[in-house]
Amino acid sequence: MQSVTEQELYEQMRVKLERVVPEFELRYKAELAFKINKLKGDRNAIILGHNYMEPALYNSIPDYTGDSLELCRKAAQTDADIIVFCGVRFMAETAKILNPDKTVLIPSPRAGCSLAESITAADVRALKERFPGVPVVSYVNTYADVKAESDYCCTSGNAAKVVEAIGGDRVIFLPDEYLASNVAKETGKRIIFPSKTPRSAAKAEESELDYQIIGWKGRCEVHEKFTVEDIANIRRQFPDTVVLAHPECSPEVVAASDFSGSTAAMIRYVREVKAGRYLLLTECSMGDNIAAANPDREMLRLCTVRCPHMNEITLEDTLSALEETRYVVTVPEETRVRALRAVERMLAIG
Ligand code: 13P
Ligand code: SF4
Repeated sequence: MQSVTEQELYEQMRVKLERVVPEFELRYKAELAFKINKLKGDRNAIILGHNYMEPALYNSIPDYTGDSLELCRKAAQTDADIIVFCGVRFMAETAKILNPDKTVLIPSPRAGCSLAESITAADVRALKERFPGVPVVSYVNTYADVKAESDYCCTSGNAAKVVEAIGGDRVIFLPDEYLASNVAKETGKRIIFPSKTPRSAAKAEESELDYQIIGWKGRCEVHEKFTVEDIANIRRQFPDTVVLAHPECSPEVVAASDFSGSTAAMIRYVREVKAGRYLLLTECSMGDNIAAANPDREMLRLCTVRCPHMNEITLEDTLSALEETRYVVTVPEETRVRALRAVERMLAIG
């Protein structure tokens, strides 16, 4: 049962968001959020909201907000009957992998991810055949069938830690080219991206190379767009700017930035480190959410670059999700059990 009235919810949202959301929009969205919160109580549901959710949604309906890793942990702990995932499909699938007996809903069936689309389970099987015995680490931004072919999962919050915890000579790290390169740099390992040449030629080529990480050329369609030039332009105009880049950005962009970390790590950084201004190289909504939580911080952002998948998730569709129990996320049991091993190994590493 929710304890606040619609007017109180509107007031709470207004106090936080009046600098980033117009008044008429807040009124309308507070009404939707009120209905969602009521239904959530009636149906014993929880809502998990990724840090990229638009400010009105982010600040009104989630029981928990966070990065992929934090939300994975929350999904593993809940005793609610229904989990509504305000994020993209691979995140909702991870919640289902951890909670086979619960109903997991995603408000839009179109909330995909270019990284998850960049690799298939057959691609992973082919790599395992080419590099027998080498453990496979898959970024959480993959679908369940890819996780099922993997030994470990990781997120941007623990990628280097997972690679280091595995030890050994070599690791296959999929599918983000840039995250893999950034992890290689952070852990001091050498990386290759195997060519798609016929197996015998590739084998000869690979045996001569000295490498420790085998990558894949997937990219985030959002983070690949940020450039070193963007950073230089901002620094020219505002020399007191601290630049924060998500590790899905290119290694050049990360090197030109002052800090790189998961979405949650960027939020913590702005809260804890005082600077003149902050430029976030990530989905633009997160800048609004940080600005709302830290009214004394000046946020700059490059809002021409948006994640179309995260932006599929709206308050309207979240209300319909709870009203109509839609869109139910399913993972075939055999796939789920194999994918769970990789996710649980990650959670055990931390
Ligand atoms: P985080 O795990 O850092 O929240 O990132 C998820 C994501 O999709 C970034 O684009
Ligand atoms: Fe996928 Fe990139 Fe969108 Fe994150 S920002 S969900 S990695 S497309």
